[in-house]
Formats: sequence, C-alpha cells, structure tokens
Amino acid sequence: MRGKSVSLAKLTTLKVGGPGEVWEVNSLADLRAASSAPYRVIGAGSNLLIGDAGVPERVIKLGPAYNDIKNYSGQQDVWLGAATPVPGLVRRSAEVGMSGLEGLLGVPAVLGGAITMNAGTRFGSMANTLKEVEVFLDGKLQRLDASELGLSYRHSALPEGAVIVRARLEFTPSTPEQVQAKLKEVDAARKGQPKIKSAGCAFKNPQGDSAGRLIDVAGLKGLEVGGAMVSLEHGNFIVNTGKATGKDVMELLSLIKDKISIPLEIEWELWGFDEAAMRNKVTL
Ligand code: FAD
Ligand code: EPU
Repeated sequence: MRGKSVSLAKLTTLKVGGPGEVWEVNSLADLRAASSAPYRVIGAGSNLLIGDAGVPERVIKLGPAYNDIKNYSGQQDVWLGAATPVPGLVRRSAEVGMSGLEGLLGVPAVLGGAITMNAGTRFGSMANTLKEVEVFLDGKLQRLDASELGLSYRHSALPEGAVIVRARLEFTPSTPEQVQAKLKEVDAARKGQPKIKSAGCAFKNPQGDSAGRLIDVAGLKGLEVGGAMVSLEHGNFIVNTGKATGKDVMELLSLIKDKISIPLEIEWELWGFDEAAMRNKVTL
C-alpha cells in the first residue's frame, strides 16, 4: 500500500491545514506498512488545528474495515472498530435502549478520537462505557485496560505511537424512552453552539468556570483575524468564516489569551506548528 498526498484541511471539521500524506489502513498488514516511517493518527479531525505547511509525518487514517456501525445492534458488551462514528453509535444505542453514551451527543468524532480525548460533556464522557482498547504499537496488536489509559477531563495517557484500532464498550441496559430523555437534556445544553465550521471548544475550561463565558464577558465575540472569528453564539468556539488559515486561527488564539487574565489551556491538538514559537504564545 501507499500513502496519498492530500490537503489535510479536508480531513478536519475546521477546514484548515496544509498538505500531508494520508495512509488509509484496513488491516494489520496495512498498519505495519504505514507505520514504517514517522506517523500521526487522524480520526474525524474534529479537535485538530493543522498549520498551513501541513505535516511531514505520514497521517494514518483507519478505513472502512474499522467502522463497525452496521455491527452495532444493541449488544451490552461489544468490541467496535475505532473508525466507528460516535454520532451513529449514540443514535443507535438510544434506539435500542442502551445507556452510556448520552453525554457524547453532538460530538462529531470517531471512536478512536473520542477515546484519545476522553470526549464528552458534563453529562458523561467516553470513560463511562470504555472497558478496553486494542492498540497497534511497536508492530503488533495489544490490549490495554481502560484503567491504564489515564482518562480524565479531555485527556488520555495513551502510550506514544499507539494506534487504537478497536474498543470494548459496556452499556447499561435501559429503555429507549429513558435514553431519549437524557439525550434531550444534553441537546438542550448544546443549543447555544454554532453550526458552522469549527473544531469545537478551543480552550479547556478553567477549574470552576467556563472559558466561553470568560471570552464572552471580555467582549471578544465576533473578534476576527482573517477568516477566523470568535463565534457570535459561543465564546469558546472559533469558526472558519470561509478562508481561514492556520496562521489566522493561531493569531486569534493568542489575542484571546492576551485579553483574559486567567490562563487558558488549548483543548485542540495542534499539528505542524513551530512548538517553541507557539509555547511563547499559547499554553498547550
Ligand atoms: P481527531 O480530532 O481526528 O484527533 C484527536 C486526537 O486523537 C489526535 O491527537 C489524534 O492523533 C488522536 N487519535 C484519533 N484517532 C486515534 C486512534 N485511532 N488512535 C490513536 N490516536 C487517535 N469534544 C468534547 O469532548 N465534547 C464536546 O461536547 C464536543 N463538541 C464538539 C462540537 C463540534 C461541533 C466539534 C467540531 C467538536 C466538538 N468536540 C467536542 C471536539 C471533538 O469532537 C472531540 O475532541 C473528539 O474526541 C475528537 O475526535 P476525532 O475523531 O475527531 O479525533
Ligand atoms: N456562557 C456564556 N457565554 C458564552 C458561552 C457560555 O455566558 O459565550 C455561559 C453559559 O451561559 C453557561 C456557562 O457559560 O452559563 C457554561 O456554558 P456551556 O453550558 O455552553 O458549557 P461550556 O462549559 O462552555 C462545555 C464543553 C463543551 C460541551 C458543553 C455542553 C469544555 C471546554 N466545553 O462548554 O465541549 O459541548 O459544555 O455540555 O469543556 C468541546 O470540548 O469541544 C466542547 C464543545
């Protein structure tokens, strides 16, 4: 197999980023071939800011062989491929009355990315259902218990270079009505979020407060650098109004940080930026 040169912007929800060589893998043999040179892993690209020069490493993307959405028919304890889309899984588990993923309603991730970021909301995160992962590491597949992943607020401590290929989730049997009722609650909490191109919240919430609220009360909604703008709806979302570049977004992040007295930590994964220069500007 071979990689393909593509614009990485297309693989992200923010639609920002330069070129990269994408290796779509569908088997262990593919993973071995793709990982024979330095690599990164991309999921649904919904928590990524990629620089305008792209990245020199290979970008591994799990292909359809790791998407098990069609195989989820309501099992309580189930292994699913890491390219399975989370929104579909949330919908399907609600239909069959399996509880556990409600807190992830509205998270446009695939399972591998949702586990890596321990995605969720105050209503629950991936850690609620995750039991085990199968990772590709050092040329072979290995299993890790969820307790070994150090899952906490928007964080995991996955071993360096590990590619999550499958995950075992354990749901709690409930009823479609009860699961739907919880989904309604989560949906209501998300009402103020923008629908246009973004990568979700840019900053983690500081202890006991909301970064979005802080940015809002500082009067920064609508602040623009090139095609990047602080959402008018939610202060912690940066939206791409059309032609944002990585440089625009990075400059906007710095401006925001300069104007807020509490230190804000970036939630996104940043690819292809000069780390030393960036550290002076933003807290990673
Ligand atoms: P990516 O963004 O592609 O990657 C994220 C990280 O995971 C990268 O470091 C990548 O290398 C790594 N990774 C991905 N797949 C694998 C794998 N198989 N093995 C190893 N590493 C891997 N997040 C929340 O937590 N809560 C929210 O409410 C929320 N709302 C959002 C709303 C919108 C509109 C958007 C655009 C984003 C939102 N997000 C939210 C952010 C984002 O969806 C999550 O962080 C999500 O977990 C990212 O998953 P992904 O598949 O897109 O991963
Ligand atoms: N608020 C404002 N102005 C704003 C934004 C928020 O005043 O512009 C206020 C709200 O009115 C509310 C409080 O701040 O009183 C909290 O806001 P919200 O409920 O929107 O939650 P949040 O803390 O800003 C978190 C997550 C979101 C998640 C929502 C929904 C983080 C960084 N953000 O946002 O996650 O969707 O809760 O539960 O933890 C993400 O991580 O990418 C993300 C979108």
